[in-house]
Amino acid sequence: MIPSPAALAQTHAEVFPHRPWSAAEFADLLAAGGAHFAGDAQTFVLGRVVLDEAEILTVASHPSMRRKGHARQALETFESSLPDTVKAIFLEVAEDNIAAISLYRTQGFAEVGRRPGYYNSGCGPAKTALIFSKSIPERTSF
Ligand SMILES: CC(C)(COP(=O)(O)OP(=O)(O)OC[C@H]1O[C@@H](n2cnc3c(N)ncnc32)[C@H](O)[C@@H]1OP(=O)(O)O)[C@@H](O)C(=O)NCCC(=O)NCCS
Repeated sequence: MIPSPAALAQTHAEVFPHRPWSAAEFADLLAAGGAHFAGDAQTFVLGRVVLDEAEILTVASHPSMRRKGHARQALETFESSLPDTVKAIFLEVAEDNIAAISLYRTQGFAEVGRRPGYYNSGCGPAKTALIFSKSIPERTSF
């Protein structure tokens, strides 16, 4: 079951204190066509499916839950529960986000592009976003 927008917003605020998403924003994202969720209220992956691609919008693991394999599990569930039509997953990550980059690489994602100045924190120079992608092998059903 997908946790409530309020529970997701609470975790998101702990994980991203400088750019938290509100419960209303989570409600809108979850209600939008193609919304795809995996995980629980403490560790989750939220994305959307558009035609044959999935885009990951956020990955969050509550600070008290880290390094226990929860984000890896949520990513695996996100991928394995995608519609069969999806051929690739895309996401953006800040170039200095060592933890997330390591997570994505170990899950088979690879860098396919860069967006200089993508993340503006309001202090210091804006950071480059790395675009990561993972191809989904064709699934055959018997
Ligand atoms: C990135 C994040 C989601 C990882 O969550 P997690 O639940 O701790 O991840 P897992 O325990 O499943 O870790 C899986 C793998 O990711 C990598 N990893 C996770 N945290 C790491 C860290 N701090 N440093 C280096 N590698 C790390 C490791 O390869 C790890 O495998 P291992 O523990 O067997 O070495 C979490 O640190 C987080 O919420 N960070 C802030 C939000 C964020 O950056 N989201 C991504 C935005 S693009």
